[in-house]
Amino acid sequence: MIGRDREILAVGDLVRAGRTGGAWVLRGEAGVGKSALISAVCRELTGTQILMTRGVEAEASLPFAGLHQMLRPIMPLAGTLAPRQQAALAAAMGTGEAQAGEPFILALAVLELLATAADRSPIAIFVDDAQWLDAPSGQVLDFVARRLGAEPVSVSLIIRDGYVSPLTTTGLPELHIDPLDDESARALLDLNAPDLAMPARRHILRVAAGNPLALLELSRAGAGPADGLPGSLPLTSRLQATFSARLHELPPGAQALTLLAATNDQDSARELLLAAPLLKPDAGDTLTTLQFAVDAGLLTVDRGEILFRHPLVRSAVYQGASPADRRVAHSVLAEVVREQPDRRAWHLAAAAVEPDEQTAAAIEAAATRAATRGGRHTSLAALERAAELTPDPLKHALRCLTAAEVAVSSGDSARAVRLLSTASIPRSASPRVTSSVPRLVPRWVPRSKVKHYCSSAVQNARSRTRLTSGGGRYGSKIQLRTRCQSDAKAQH
Ligand SMILES: Nc1ncnc2c1ncn2[C@@H]1O[C@H](COP(=O)(O)OP(=O)(O)OP(=O)(O)O)[C@@H](O)[C@H]1O
Ligand SMILES: [Mg+2]
Repeated sequence: MIGRDREILAVGDLVRAGRTGGAWVLRGEAGVGKSALISAVCRELTGTQILMTRGVEAEASLPFAGLHQMLRPIMPLAGTLAPRQQAALAAAMGTGEAQAGEPFILALAVLELLATAADRSPIAIFVDDAQWLDAPSGQVLDFVARRLGAEPVSVSLIIRDGYVSPLTTTGLPELHIDPLDDESARALLDLNAPDLAMPARRHILRVAAGNPLALLELSRAGAGPADGLPGSLPLTSRLQATFSARLHELPPGAQALTLLAATNDQDSARELLLAAPLLKPDAGDTLTTLQFAVDAGLLTVDRGEILFRHPLVRSAVYQGASPADRRVAHSVLAEVVREQPDRRAWHLAAAAVEPDEQTAAAIEAAATRAATRGGRHTSLAALERAAELTPDPLKHALRCLTAAEVAVSSGDSARAVRLLSTASIPRSASPRVTSSVPRLVPRWVPRSKVKHYCSSAVQNARSRTRLTSGGGRYGSKIQLRTRCQSDAKAQH
């Protein structure tokens, strides 16, 4: 494990302290490494019987599923119990006749069984994902934990942030696991994805914010820098499920508002208050509805800002929504930010279902502004989107070419290849234009040479345009544009 020496020692101490009969709680956000930490501690707990169980969301309503898993290693000792306790235990484990209304006997049986097993060596019980432990197992554990007394049995409850403990006892010792510090996060990423390109590495480190699951999964998914809008980060299904876990428990109105907040590229509560009535005119008070998401620990509303608990919660909410819902959210936001051309263009582009020149031109203009400010990556993403949204084939080809040029100069040759290969010119266009747009980088080009081929493809396109049009050295792109435009006119 990387960067957890201090935590391993602290958990070990708490488990050992609990051996004189006590429970304690380990908390932390999803994916922060709670389970991994417990496994590391278990490997070091020599001479201790480990009883491990895990709450499973899908089994939360399956009575005694957790208890069954926990007691399995010591069930052979059940024969030493009194007959009524044996019967209650067998019923709970599903191996005997159901015994209605005997929860007390069952709890006593478990306590007795643990005490008998602890005569051999100390016991460490770990309840991972305790927030999903089925309620009957939770009640038995609650009873047992209160009565362990001086038995050498410790109970460790591992709970995700934002969930309640299955035990009713309050004031138990708690240890909170924080995200990894910067140095450990970098080390984990380097170990698992040593070949990651610099921009992607920087981006993953920023988005993961020290969360090991996010670091591992994002590097596996090869996440590149986000393109303009929050949802463009590709999440693996595990990340998706982990970070949007509580969303589906919310009422539909609160889910829709959470999506709206996740779709907004800024954290402004004011914008959400303006957008919400456009989304659903009679949905009631926005902040009251949003409180469900706050209570579920998905976000907070603080000093006019809506802040997601983790950047990945925002991405997971966005990506978990249907494309239709996302488009509606974008078009509502485009309306709210209509005075801000760049943001409006991005939201319009994300809301568009099919090619549309007006939207394409708006996002192309945003690309130009981004390039002036030095936002080469945003500019490239905007140009790409502009090309996708361009209905006219010639203009489409031209925008692809422009985007490919930016991609080459950003060192993103794979993207340039993709763009160049989509820039196809209709046969009806003049031969001069046809020859001026590079069609492909040959497929057989080895990876190491792609960058070279790409830039020469783009340069070729430039110089061919120059030759065929007799244009100046640096004017090729503009002339190509003019030529495309006059060709387009000639076709109509
Ligand atoms: N310090 C670490 N060094 C290396 N890998 C780690 C570290 N912490 C966690 N991991 C890895 O990150 C992933 C997520 O960790 P883990 O499953 O323990 O998180 P968790 O907190 O238990 O999440 P959940 O709330 O979903 O149960 C695992 O693949 C784990 O092996
Ligand atoms: Mg876990």
